[in-house]
Amino acid sequence: MKILFATSEAHPLIKTGGLADVSGSLPSAYTKLKNHVKLVLPAYGDIWEKVTVVRELTDFMVGGCNRDVHVRVFKAKAEGLQTPVWLVDVPDLFNRPGNPYLSPEGDDWWDNGERYAVFSKAVVEIAMNRVGLDWQPDVVHTNDWQTGLVPALLTLEPKRPQTLFTIHNMAYAGLFPKSLFESLQLPWHWWTPEGIEFYGNMSMLKAGILMSDWVNTVSPTYAKEICFPEYAYGMEGVLQQRQDEGRLVGILNGIDQDVWNPKKDHYIRRHYDSEKGRVAAKKENKKDLLRFWDLPEEVIESPTPVVGFVGRLVPQKGIDLVLEVIHDVLEQTDARFVFVGSGSANYEYALSELAHQYPNRVMVYIGYSEALAHKVEAGADMFLMPSRFEPCGLNQMYSLAYGTLPIVHHTGGLADTVVNATEENIKEGTATGFMFYDPSSHALKSTLLHALFLYTKTRTWQKIQKTGMSVDFGWKKSAKQYLDLFKKTDKKNKE
Ligand code: ADP
Ligand code: GLC
Repeated sequence: MKILFATSEAHPLIKTGGLADVSGSLPSAYTKLKNHVKLVLPAYGDIWEKVTVVRELTDFMVGGCNRDVHVRVFKAKAEGLQTPVWLVDVPDLFNRPGNPYLSPEGDDWWDNGERYAVFSKAVVEIAMNRVGLDWQPDVVHTNDWQTGLVPALLTLEPKRPQTLFTIHNMAYAGLFPKSLFESLQLPWHWWTPEGIEFYGNMSMLKAGILMSDWVNTVSPTYAKEICFPEYAYGMEGVLQQRQDEGRLVGILNGIDQDVWNPKKDHYIRRHYDSEKGRVAAKKENKKDLLRFWDLPEEVIESPTPVVGFVGRLVPQKGIDLVLEVIHDVLEQTDARFVFVGSGSANYEYALSELAHQYPNRVMVYIGYSEALAHKVEAGADMFLMPSRFEPCGLNQMYSLAYGTLPIVHHTGGLADTVVNATEENIKEGTATGFMFYDPSSHALKSTLLHALFLYTKTRTWQKIQKTGMSVDFGWKKSAKQYLDLFKKTDKKNKE
């Protein structure tokens, strides 16, 4: 099959979170299964230095906000990406440094609506093979609100490729005022509650959900959760509708085993696997992680457990719960904590304060560091992921692969990937981590204390580590599930 994979971020070119990890690895998994894939994304300012531009492929015009916008498409290659990249270049909209969605002040770019509408329109032109590229995809795989207009606009085309819209997070609805809808000259009949209007605004997320052939989200549990108001932010109706049509499915994300693999991770000090040298290597990696903070040598050498956290500092990730319980846990145990993250200023401040209050016990890095993220996975003993909701979550799978026991809330992909260390599961040899069922500070605290207690039972701990490390979270199985969906649609269309 020919698959056009449209995304707003892809590792290693540009990344704010898990969407980039998925976009950097699922297309390669499609390729390995003998499909032809092109990865299309906006040419942001920081991308140019990460790619080798092969050549300019084409240029054309699409409609922006009451104006025509000149689009150029470049073919590029990047180290670590097996898939050919097509960069959609509109300097005026995308050639800005840093975070793709936010200005340096941390606010959404004022013109995000036009930026991603133009990107989506460019993807549609490519998908329809109208811009001289001589390549007609069978499927367009779109991701999150930034590409939500692609499946919608393709419904207006008589002979078009199939579309799939993947929801990575319902919390980002891609909402814009009616004035944007008008200036983009979208079809007026879409402006209804049954269309892409959403309580007085337009929603690009809703456009993708409503008008694609298939909708999926990134874990089976989240696919069920989002049909309820608690997780759907007002879109439960349209999601239930797609579910009733049999068009909403959950496919668990995979992980890139070339990048997140303790056997060959080039960011970590000592390589290891579930069989060989795991215990000694993790000890070395723990010291290497702690050395980042320039701690006294006796602190670095200390055998006390290290609990890690890496993630966006937003309410989704349950960081407020951690802040509520950490004082008690520090008082009652000898645990140490390492936090790597950036996001809301209040959480960044609270974590920095903690580091001051508990020197040598709480280590904090505010910012984005790919290297530290890998070092935490390899060097920590446990990984905290108390997310209130988690469409899939990749870090808990990385943790499992690295023998770093995850402590998670029972939700979304966390529920689908971690097996709770109950006595029964430990006995049966299926336990891989720790799970709590109520997103409260009380539940988190008791689970964390339980995990720290179990850490002292070395044999049991090592057994759990080993079980987690032997689970295969690679992309093969999930990529096949995506391809099966595409084949189903193809068959239906031929009937
Ligand atoms: P989400 O996409 O909701 O942020 P995921 O668990 O799916 O959550 O993916 C997060 C990805 O982003 C992981 O690869 C994680 O290591 C990375 N990440 C998040 N914050 C940081 C950070 N501050 N520094 C380095 N990597 C980070
Ligand atoms: C989103 C979700 C996360 C998921 C990632 C990749 O950012 O928050 O749970 O793993 O997308 O699908």
